[in-house]
Amino acid sequence: MKKIILIIMLLFITGCNKEIKKEVTYKEKITIKIGEEVPSLEDYITSDYDESCTIEWTNIDLEDNKIYTAGIYEGKLKIVDRDVTVNLEVIDDVAPTIENVKDITITVGDKIDLLKGITVTDNSRDEMDISISEESIYDINKVGTYNIEVIAKDNSNNISKKVFKLIVKEKVIPQEQVKDIPNVPDIDLSGTTTKGYQINRIDGIYYVNGILIANKTYALPSTYNPGGLRSEFMTAFNKMKEAAKNDGVTITIISGYRSYSYQKALYDGYVKTYGKAMTDTFSARPGNSEHQSGLAADLNRIDDNFGNTKEGKWLDLNASKYGFILRYPKGKQSITGYKYEPWHFRYIGDEAANLYQNGEWTTLEEYLGIDSKYQS
Ligand code: DAL
Ligand code: ZN
Repeated sequence: MKKIILIIMLLFITGCNKEIKKEVTYKEKITIKIGEEVPSLEDYITSDYDESCTIEWTNIDLEDNKIYTAGIYEGKLKIVDRDVTVNLEVIDDVAPTIENVKDITITVGDKIDLLKGITVTDNSRDEMDISISEESIYDINKVGTYNIEVIAKDNSNNISKKVFKLIVKEKVIPQEQVKDIPNVPDIDLSGTTTKGYQINRIDGIYYVNGILIANKTYALPSTYNPGGLRSEFMTAFNKMKEAAKNDGVTITIISGYRSYSYQKALYDGYVKTYGKAMTDTFSARPGNSEHQSGLAADLNRIDDNFGNTKEGKWLDLNASKYGFILRYPKGKQSITGYKYEPWHFRYIGDEAANLYQNGEWTTLEEYLGIDSKYQS
C-alpha cells in the first residue's frame, strides 16, 4: 500500500480585504481513497470564513468528482486575500483483480504466450504491470506439469497473484516418421547378480529372478514389441484403478507402451535441447526404456510434485498391493540412473510387496542386485 504521506496543513488565515469575522481554521488531513468523491474544501473548514473567498479545488482535473490515480494533488484555495495550497492525498490500497487464468496444455516444444487471455482490472486507471513470477520454473521442451504464477501490480505496489498449471505433454510422433531401426548388437550379460539371482537372456531380453529388466545396463532388442501394454499389466492396472475409484481417486494412464523407434525420437528430441548428459537423467535411450516392455506406464501427470497429490499419495501407498512398483523413487538416482519420477509405475507382480516396506521403496536394482549404468 502506498504510504500515506500527509502534508499537514494547519491554516490560520486572518486578514481579508473584506472584513473577516473570525480566524479561519482547517482540518489537518485531507486523505481519500482512489475513486472516492473528492471532498469539498468547505467541509474542512471548521470555523467561519468570509463568504467572499474562493474555496475550491482549483487545479485538480476531476472526473465525476473523483480521482483514479494515486498521488498527492494540490488544491489551491483562495481565502480572503491569500492563495493557500492544500494537499490532497489519494491513496490506493486495493490490489488488481486477475481473471481468466486457466491451466494450459501444450506439446513439447510448442511456443506459448503464458499471459494470453489473462485480464487484469483495477480500481485505478494505472497501466497494470503483469508478469510471470521468477519462481515459476518451467520448460516447454520437457514433458511435465509446472506451476505458473501470474503477478499483477498497480502503481501503488498493490500486488495480486494467481497460479495456473502449464502441462507440457509428450509429442505424439506420427507412425510414418517412426522408422525401423536395426538391432544394436551387444555383449551377453547373463550370469549371477550380487544378490545371487540368475540373469537369463531369452530372445535377447534379460530376466532376473523371472523379472524382465530394462534399465541402463540391460537393454531390450530394438525389435521387441509387445504391441502395447501387456495383458498382465492391464489386468492389474484395472483392478488398481477400480480400488482407487472406490477411494475417490482417479488414476489414468498418460503414457504406456512406447516402441523403440518412438523412444528414439523422444530421446533424440531431448538431446537436441539438453545434451546427452542431462537427458540421460530423465529419459531412457531407445532400448533402455521400460515403456518398450509394455510393463510400465506414466500415470496421471508428469509433475515433480505429483507425489504430494491425493492421487500420487494413493499410488505410493497402494500400488504394490496390485503388483506395481514406483520405479524411480526419490533419492535413488545413483542406483536407478534416473531422477525421481512419482508418476512412473512398473508391473512386476507379487514381488512388488517386497519392494514397498514401511512406506519406503527399494529399487529393483537394489532388490535384485543389479546395475543400471550405460557403458558409454
Ligand atoms: N523416463 C523414463 C526413464 C523413460 O524414459 O523410460
Ligand atoms: Zn515413464
